[in-house]
Order: sequence, then structure tokens, then C-alpha cells
Amino acid sequence: MKKIAIIGGTGLTQISDLNIINREQVATPYGSPSAEFVTGELNQKQLVFLARHGNPHNIPPHKINYRANIWALKQLGVEKIIAVAAVGGITPAMEPARLALPDQIIDYSYDRKHTFFDDEFTPVTHIDFTVPYSQALRKQLIAAAAATNIKLVSAGTYGCTQGPRLETTAEIKRMEQDGCDLVGMTGMPEAVLARELALEYAALAVVANWAAGKTEGEITMKEIEHNLHTGMANAIDVLKAFIALL
Ligand code: HPA
Repeated sequence: MKKIAIIGGTGLTQISDLNIINREQVATPYGSPSAEFVTGELNQKQLVFLARHGNPHNIPPHKINYRANIWALKQLGVEKIIAVAAVGGITPAMEPARLALPDQIIDYSYDRKHTFFDDEFTPVTHIDFTVPYSQALRKQLIAAAAATNIKLVSAGTYGCTQGPRLETTAEIKRMEQDGCDLVGMTGMPEAVLARELALEYAALAVVANWAAGKTEGEITMKEIEHNLHTGMANAIDVLKAFIALL
């Protein structure tokens, strides 16, 4: 079986049902990853877990060392990554607490170390990114959700903003016109770095809130936490079913 990793986002700093076998720090040429890598068994199958924002949760999206995280996973022999991420919902199907499986990305982030191909010793490399997520992994996650009867929106465009602030109403309007269904802060450069190292990568998005301007009033941390509580529990059930189906 190919080695699998789960990167947990906001609301998922650990998987409580994981039967932990090993915890290790990994050094990389790019510096330190977000946290230690936890190897464990879920449904009798091994996986590696990494808390994207650190454990405790204290690394903001723009300060995550994405290169170190992805490099370390490759070094650990991981071949497939499921990235769990909290997002805001833009289009009507993306309601709070819903799970979604984006199939496209628009990157609005900036000032992040977004490639492994940027030293003068490597020939200029332009990787293909037409289809940014692994179709095979996405199909398996759709099957897993069907097996659990958990509703999952099976496609959508993920817009990645810089954060850590949330967006303005006008920014969300522009993103919607661009074709974004979801907005998050960590989807890039994580997805492209995985592609550069030939790792299969899919994102399981959990909608935490309606994006800015989609409801009256402000977005509160309280509503985000409330929706993530339900959404992440569903995400874990889908991940368990995904592992069982392997
Ligand atoms: N915008 C960006 N990232 C997010 C949001 C949002 O509304 N909710 C959770 N992550």
C-alpha cells in the first residue's frame, strides 16, 4: 500500500482515534516543518499525520513552511496526501459545515516560498498544473463519502488568499466573478509543492463560514468554531472510510 499522509488544518490538530506508533521530527534543507510527524494506525492501516498550523495551533497561514512540510513528507516515503482545510463558502452549495472536494485552484496569495525549483543549479522547470488535484484521490474520497452517507460537494474552485485576515465583501465578489466557490488561506503553495515532488494530493475542505458579505454582519470566531466542530467530525468519518476502502 502506498504511504498516505493527512495534513490537518484549523480544527484538526490531531486525530484522536489514531493509534500512535511513532512521533518524529524531520529536518529539511528548507528549515523546520510545522510540527512533528505522527505515524499511527487508523482502521488498521498506517498513515502519517501533520498539523499544518503546528501543535498547538499557532502558525498563521502565511508563515507556514510549506516547502519543509512537503519535503519532509516525501522524505518519509509518503506518496499520497489528503489535505484537510477550513474554508469560507462563496457559492450556494458551499454552506457552513459542508464538506467539499475542490477540483481547481486560483492562487491570490503572495510572498510565499512557492517552488522547489528556484535555485541556480536546477534547470528552469515548468511543471504541468492543468489539473491541480489528484483525480484518483478525489474519486476515492467521493466513494468514501458515499459509503458514509455524508454529503460532500464533489467539485469546486478553491481561491487561496494571503490571510491571516478574512476578505472584504468586494474581494469575495471579485473571487466569485473569477469562478471561485471556496476561499481558504493554505491551499497554495501546498498543492503545487506536492505536484513538484510528484506526490498525489487532494484537498478535503470543510466550510467554516459563509464568506465575507454572503450574510449580514461580521464573521465571528464563534461561528467558525461551531461549524468546524461538526464539519471536522464528518471529515474524520470520511477519512476513516477512505482508509477502509484502500
Ligand atoms: N476566508 C479565508 N479562509 C477561511 C475562511 C474565509 O472566510 N474561513 C475559513 N478559512
